[in-house]
Amino acid sequence: MIRIESSGNTRHSPPPLFFVIFGASGDLTHRKLLPALFDLHRKGDIHPNTRIIGVARKDKTTQGFRKEAVDGIRSFSRHLPKDEKDDPDDLREFLDRIHYLPLSFEKSADFDRLAEYLMDPELLKVTNGNILFYLATPPSFFIPIVEQLGRIRPSLDSSDRNGFTRLVIEKPFGHDLASAKALNQSVLQVFREEEIHRIDHYLGKETVQNILILRLANPVFGALWNRDIINRVEIRVFETIGIEGRGAYFEESGILRDMVQNHLFQLLTLTAMEPPVSFDADSIRDEKVKVLRALVPWRGEKPSGSILFGQYLEGGVLEEPVMAYRQEKGVDLGSVVETYAAMKVEIQNMRWAGVPFHLVAGKRMSRKATEIVLHYRKPPFALFRLAGCQDDTENVLTLSIQPNEGISLRFGIKRPGSPLRIDQADLSFAYNQIYQEDPPEAYSRLIYDVMIGDATLFARNDEVEKAWAFMELFLSLKRNPKFYPAGTDGPVEVDNFFSTDLS
Ligand code: BG6
Repeated sequence: MIRIESSGNTRHSPPPLFFVIFGASGDLTHRKLLPALFDLHRKGDIHPNTRIIGVARKDKTTQGFRKEAVDGIRSFSRHLPKDEKDDPDDLREFLDRIHYLPLSFEKSADFDRLAEYLMDPELLKVTNGNILFYLATPPSFFIPIVEQLGRIRPSLDSSDRNGFTRLVIEKPFGHDLASAKALNQSVLQVFREEEIHRIDHYLGKETVQNILILRLANPVFGALWNRDIINRVEIRVFETIGIEGRGAYFEESGILRDMVQNHLFQLLTLTAMEPPVSFDADSIRDEKVKVLRALVPWRGEKPSGSILFGQYLEGGVLEEPVMAYRQEKGVDLGSVVETYAAMKVEIQNMRWAGVPFHLVAGKRMSRKATEIVLHYRKPPFALFRLAGCQDDTENVLTLSIQPNEGISLRFGIKRPGSPLRIDQADLSFAYNQIYQEDPPEAYSRLIYDVMIGDATLFARNDEVEKAWAFMELFLSLKRNPKFYPAGTDGPVEVDNFFSTDLS
């Protein structure tokens, strides 16, 4: 039986606040934000005086918005049983806190109305004047909204209000280095860096956070986390889904911008960073930025030699026939946009120089798997082979982030009896075998952190810009993708691509 002993820090109670969602009619609000807020409410992790204000262009009433919220919560909340017919009391309580305000992002008068609403003396008493703006709109609206917020900010910062002001922005933070800088510049004219929370939902996943616990709370792993013993590191994010109807968006972004620049780089930096001097947001982010500064294409090769692009053809995923990328709605028939990318990079510092990091992201793969895999070096002397025994042992540590969150370590064991034979075994741990409850949904965790003002799991401006600066090496490369049938493990060329650097 596995014994769990906990040691933990105190849980903070979020203060009351105005939670203003721009883009309240959108998919993200419906599928993620309101269900996550309801889950937090159910756990008692939202202050009873908090008011959620949905803001969007569509003309609808608070009643209509609440009705849509119920549909979203019923479909996507982890904590509302689907078969529960009546609305439970806590759902009704939650809905009472939700309001809707129609607002056009271009109209100054609408933002003035919003400011008046937020500065209502009666409401200020209830919310202590705390305001959180959440940008859940398409990215083209980020700068116009932030400019309008800049215009009303002086009236919000009047002496009648003492609370905090925070801004949450959804990815993508820019399309390339120049646009990321422009976005950061606009936002930083209105908000201080410590008020800004740039969301990358991968950082809200439990096993992603567990990377640091595994490394830094356990000397047995921490001591074996360097080039002396690690031969190579693989970070892969395989998805079975395709582009989910987002053809026009994907044609502009490709998987490099959609997944690699953000989610994969978050996994990479957490895996490779040095231990921080303390566990506060900036100390951790400082170390992540240093990794990005040390990042180069593998062995300093040309960028074109250290990346392989792929695109899915028609095929079958999980026994369902699926169309080719080029047949998706909104996609050019001759598109060369990548739905798959494999990259070889190196982190040129004392800990990692000479260790290849293989990053792979792919849509329409045979299975869903987000994994970080550390391959250890072989022993310097092949003792058992010399004794005539085949020894294929390779110690491999796998951190599985999705779909089954857990960790496993592969090692060699003696097969009972003679002659001498070595088999491979796994020492493994799965979250769902130990904890009965599902880990919290990433959005609940991240929204909770914003409410209590903890920025550790959010990207800082320099981190975003450094990631784009590295990405710039690849963005303008000619794509020329290798094709793979949907439902496979990607282009066949990838084996050769990666094998050339393995000694
Ligand atoms: C999003 C991407 O950021 O992450 C999607 O835009 C992708 O293309 C999704 O499917 C993956 O998230 P998760 O949590 O399902 O791994």
